[in-house]
Amino acid sequence: MVLPVFPSHILTTRQFLDRDLIEELFGQADRYAEADAQGTLPQILKGKILACVFYEPSTRTRFSFEAAMQKLGGSVIQTESAGHFSSAMKGETLEDSIRTIGGYADAIMLRHSEVGAAERAARVSSVPIINGGDGSREHPTQSLLDLYTIHKELGRMDKFHMGLMGDLLYGRTIHSLIYLLSLSNEIEVTLIAPPPLKLPKEYRDFLTAHRIPFHETDNLPEALPHLDVLYVTRIQKERFTDPLLYQRMQHTFILTKTLAETLPKHAIILHPLPRVDEIPTEVDADPRAAYFQQARNGLSIRMALLAKILETCPHPSPTPA
Ligand code: NCD
Repeated sequence: MVLPVFPSHILTTRQFLDRDLIEELFGQADRYAEADAQGTLPQILKGKILACVFYEPSTRTRFSFEAAMQKLGGSVIQTESAGHFSSAMKGETLEDSIRTIGGYADAIMLRHSEVGAAERAARVSSVPIINGGDGSREHPTQSLLDLYTIHKELGRMDKFHMGLMGDLLYGRTIHSLIYLLSLSNEIEVTLIAPPPLKLPKEYRDFLTAHRIPFHETDNLPEALPHLDVLYVTRIQKERFTDPLLYQRMQHTFILTKTLAETLPKHAIILHPLPRVDEIPTEVDADPRAAYFQQARNGLSIRMALLAKILETCPHPSPTPA
């Protein structure tokens, strides 16, 4: 089997629309999880440095990337609130910061509030850029771990009915996941959102172009009994330009314990986290709740991604201006 070349930057899940590539990645993640449990992880990233540059807050993405790097023998340099604690404060452009950081690190994990920031960074970077979320657009490594979780929890990545619920307009994990779903066969998607937060047209068009049957609803109770996977998202407060609209939207859907019980017995509940009130903590004890396991799976997927991107890839060359 000839594997397609692993991308030199991780910017969008559209770079991962190859089933062999994904199966290889998931296999590597499984092997790392196993080796981690046995204390036998190979120290293949010894001497390598990952720079984690966050212009927006993060818990899971940041800690799981840092832990993944360190578990494989590498180290991390980082700035949180880069907008305040880096030279961005003095007016430095993202491009200049990236060029500079690339001189100190072997890869850069970037989270930024602007759509397209990761692409801008990749254009000037001499080292691989990993998109840790660019505004409301994409969050590819999250969606890779989401699909990995489905694969692990259901034992397959085909033949399932998935409900995507919440803020489908601004939820970047949803957008990256829509692309990845084109790798799965015989699936069906129910988009559960209030009309102002429905999935943007480009992603609906993508589903249509890939012959993935979907329908849109704002009736959560009606949708639940048909699902194998329910993917819940937070209403993305920070993206709203109209605070009144946010106020109207903020408690739209709540997966109460009673509602969760109407899901089929074999179903799984996912959430990229953090949650606000869309999944009350009383649902955590439901055996279908898989979101903390999902967050944990981020560690093995990110080990596999870092190994691929740092071990096997020649450094990308910046695009000439
Ligand atoms: C998500 C994000 O940053 O987009 N969080 C994460 O990385 N797990 C989801 C969110 O913030 O709602």
